Amino acid sequence: MNVKQAEFVISALKPSQYPEDALPEIALAGRSNVGKSSLINRMVHRKNLARTSSKPGKTQTINFYRVNGQLYFADMPGYGFARVSKETKAAWARMIEGYLLNRRELKGVIQVVDVRHPPTRDDRMMYDWLKHYGIPVIVVATKADKIPRGKWPKHVKQVREGLQIGADDPLILFSAETGQGKDELWSTIAALVSE
Ligand code: GTP
Ligand code: MG
Repeated sequence: MNVKQAEFVISALKPSQYPEDALPEIALAGRSNVGKSSLINRMVHRKNLARTSSKPGKTQTINFYRVNGQLYFADMPGYGFARVSKETKAAWARMIEGYLLNRRELKGVIQVVDVRHPPTRDDRMMYDWLKHYGIPVIVVATKADKIPRGKWPKHVKQVREGLQIGADDPLILFSAETGQGKDELWSTIAALVSE
């Protein structure tokens, strides 16, 4: 996709705030601080469209970004180690679950994991949950720039095996820092959106 235009549309806490123009949506899921918002910025070549932070827990609502008037990225709060209360985590979980299960416009989820580390229990739960509900998943292993090129294959294998990703399911090595994987991710998204 040749991104000509990208804009922030709304931060939503509840379904009545979701966009109403019925464009296809691709949601971002993954642990707090893994790089979901940075991935969006790289995909639309804008440095600060989606707010990022070195502290986990930056994204607290479902934030919708419209690209080329064609599709939305729905950036979601992360799971895992954000320093927020149990109640807040539970509220996020309800909001995310409700969105993922009920949103007609949702075409698929980009599940972002950190390529440096084996997938966590939370990563596995998320992946299995999406699979269970038949939601298409693109796993993106990000922060590739943080490990030497020679180690990429070993780490990619670790992610594939850790999540038990099927042989036909996409796993894309990515870096928001260098742009690696961007074109491959765009083609995978385009295929999902046109289905
Ligand atoms: P929450 O909104 O808190 O769930 O986090 P997030 O998943 O949206 O992560 P965010 O994009 O805010 O990035 C977290 C930190 O990781 C920031 O300091 C980013 O600069 C850094 N980061 C994200 N992606 C990459 C990457 O590909 N390479 C490197 N080196 N750093 C990255
Ligand atoms: Mg974020």
